[in-house]
Formats: sequence, C-alpha cells, structure tokens
Amino acid sequence: MSLAETFAPVRVRAPGKINVFLEVGYLQDDGYHELATAFQAVSLFEDVVASPAEGFSMAVTGSVALDGVPVDDRNLALRAARLLAAETGYEGGVHLDVHKQVPVAGGMGGGSADAAAALVACDALWETGLSSTDLQRLAARLGADVPFALMGGTAIGAGRGDRLSPALARGRFDWVLVVSDEGVSTPAVYGELDRHRERHRVDIGPIRDVPEVDADVLHALRAGDARMLASSLRNDLQAATLHLRPDLAPVLEQGEEWGALAGIVSGSGPTLAFLCGSPQEALDLQTRLSGAGHEALHVHGPVPGARVVP
Ligand code: C5P
Repeated sequence: MSLAETFAPVRVRAPGKINVFLEVGYLQDDGYHELATAFQAVSLFEDVVASPAEGFSMAVTGSVALDGVPVDDRNLALRAARLLAAETGYEGGVHLDVHKQVPVAGGMGGGSADAAAALVACDALWETGLSSTDLQRLAARLGADVPFALMGGTAIGAGRGDRLSPALARGRFDWVLVVSDEGVSTPAVYGELDRHRERHRVDIGPIRDVPEVDADVLHALRAGDARMLASSLRNDLQAATLHLRPDLAPVLEQGEEWGALAGIVSGSGPTLAFLCGSPQEALDLQTRLSGAGHEALHVHGPVPGARVVP
C-alpha cells in the first residue's frame, strides 16, 4: 500500500486574533518583553491541509497578498511539522497546503495560526496522539502567539503572551478590520517601543514589573458588553506602530467618526480593528470604509481554536 492510501489528507482551520488588551512590560534577557494580554480569536481563518509525503514541503494560496511568505524551512508551519516529527520520532514527512485569509505580517497572528494548524493536522495525520498539553508546549516553542491559535476563544496571556488561561466570555463581538497592503515587522515595532520609552521616560511614567490585564476588560468580556470593552481597549504597541506607519492615524480617527465604538491597532499592526455595537453597525462601517478605498472586512469573535474540519 502506498503512503497516500494509508493516510487520507487532514484539513485543520485556525483563527486569527485581536489583542483587546496588551500591556508591555520590560524587555527580558531572552529578547522578549513581559506581557499581559487578552486575546480574542476572530472569524478570519487559516486552512492547512496536511497530506502524506516522503519529505517536508508546502504551498501557499490565499485571499490576501502573499508577498514575502516563504515556502521553505523559514515558514513556521513547516517548522511546526518538523518539530512534531522530531519530538515524536515520526520518520515520514508531510506536504502542507496553506490557504491564508489572515493578513500577512498584519498583527493578527496569521503565521502563528498556520503553525498551530500544522501541529494539529500532522498530529491527526500521523496519529501521534499528543495530548493538548503536549501540543501547547510545542506551540510555545514555535512562537509567542502559537499557543493561543491552538486554544482559540478568549484567553489571557502572561509571560511572552504564551502562558495562557482561558477567560470567561459571553456573546459575540463585531469588528471591522482595515487591512494594509504592506505588513510591519513585529520585532521592529517592539524595538521602536523600547526607543520611544527611552526618549520619553519621564512622560510615560513607571512601567510595571508584572503587567496585568485590567479588571474592566475581564468584566466587559464576561458580560459580553461591547461598549464597556470599547472603553477599556488598550495596546501599548500602538504608539510605536503609528510612529512607523503615520498613515494609519487618520484611518483610526475616521473609523471612530463613522460609527465604531473604538478603534485599535491589532497586535503590532498594521491591521486596524474597530469594535462595533452590532452586526448592522459593523456592516455600515465596512461599507463606508470600503467606499473610501480601504480594504475593510467584517469579522466576529470569539471563535474556536485550531481544529480538524471535514
Ligand atoms: O514569538 P514571535 O516570533 O511571535 O515574536 C517575534 C518577535 O517579537 C520577537 O523576536 C521579539 O522581538 C518580539 N516580541 C517581544 N516580546 C513578546 C513577544 C514578541 O519582544 N512578548
């Protein structure tokens, strides 16, 4: 029997995310910043199909610009597959077909979602049968946002953002995303934040040793209250991203003028996320922003993490 006859391809879907709260603490010796974040997984998905193969290979398609997405071992999805094989002693390979909806280098964890999906897909394809704790541990080794793409829903992240605890959340939150043609580099945004803090040390005030998610954010998520969440959104990376991408500032203002409860840079950006009061309000905002020439998408959260789909 050939490989292809033994194992049928496995399709896994993993979500992009928005950080509804992101407090950035000090830079640590490992090159990462101590964080406190609240993640919400949203209905923009990466699909990864894992098929039996002798070696390790991949191809990428998508509804977003794919410039700069590598299809070799620099790609986190392929690294995830190799890591799982090495950890479990699996001797075969895999071919990954990745279909992207999450903007590339957009601050929504698209590459991390690919890695999470690849872990789940290869685990199912190879019947390696790892526990979710084992998969979470491997995910954390691949990148700070990979564990959340596995878990999905709503969660609090500590440490690098990879030490997760699920958060209670009720209801549905409607968002309009404005996608940029060009991505930004996450390390460049963190570097800009460090320089900004150095320059403006007095104005910024103390940075907490142990950042913590505001109680108001947790309350708003628990209550499913978009208005309350809008008034407590926070992203410490936003000023740094806007410094690198000043063209985004007027768009943020425009979205709020045109009916969003609040707008925020998603993660390290440059995707902008506008929280809306209802699905209809989101649709109206999407229409106005699209009419003004922006690429605007209507999504909702929370949605589940990486899982096998038919
Ligand atoms: O883990 P990931 O590859 O997503 O992180 C990309 C980069 O973002 C890191 O190399 C680091 O420069 C920066 N980062 C950070 N602190 C974090 C997460 C990411 O400084 N908690």
